[in-house]
Amino acid sequence: MSTKRKEKSRVISQNRLAPGIYDLRLFTEMAKEAEAGQFVGVYTKDASKLLPRPISICEADKEQGVLRLVYRIAGEGTAEISTLQEGQQVELLGVLGSGFPLCEAQGKQTVLMGGGIGIPPMLELAKELKEMGTEPVIIAGYRDGELFLKEDLERYGKVLVATEDGSVGTKGNVLTVVQEQKVNAEVIMACGPMPMLRAIKSYAVQQGIKAYISLEERMACGVGACLGCVCTTTAKDPHSHVKNARICTDGPVFEAREVDI
Ligand code: FES
Repeated sequence: MSTKRKEKSRVISQNRLAPGIYDLRLFTEMAKEAEAGQFVGVYTKDASKLLPRPISICEADKEQGVLRLVYRIAGEGTAEISTLQEGQQVELLGVLGSGFPLCEAQGKQTVLMGGGIGIPPMLELAKELKEMGTEPVIIAGYRDGELFLKEDLERYGKVLVATEDGSVGTKGNVLTVVQEQKVNAEVIMACGPMPMLRAIKSYAVQQGIKAYISLEERMACGVGACLGCVCTTTAKDPHSHVKNARICTDGPVFEAREVDI
């Protein structure tokens, strides 16, 4: 578990990568402890929103202390965050959640699958896997030909693209790519919309392979306060003795078989 604290960060840059998708780079000490799959809470100035907006970590440069967040505008909070400019300060809460278990991928044929705004966390994950000598295959599923982060991902592994409209790569989703290109996986690590994660879970169960999925799409407050993210688990929680977990504090990454989705 990471140590959670509030900290002021400074905006280095903000760029628009695709319609509604922004790339925010921040100077923060939190970059030094961030792991792939974790997220931070970003506070907005509007005092009526006391809870921060949870945004997953796209990249962490531990040496330079730079955290990169790539997010989609999904409401007023993220719309305000998209107006932050170079030099401005923004308060963060972090580092939050559990990351992907890199040790499970060590030496194994590892396939990363990112769908839509689930693609950004795959970048830090691919980087960390490559650094430990396990270069992954990365399947990125986009809506259309706006292939944000594709070139960044190519630095750390072989990238295969699916688009819903068929404008680039395979027409379909990440699993269409698996079938059409006969991609073999010993371990899958994925993030994306719930229907995609459900399909990956059933594929992994059928094939008898481990799949670690990030359920971050289901998060609301991100800090354990709203209970909007509770999901059913297959095992009982050792403390509460109930079969459920809070995605934001117990996850967002789970082994697919551990959660009912
Ligand atoms: Fe609010 Fe988890 S997102 S409790």
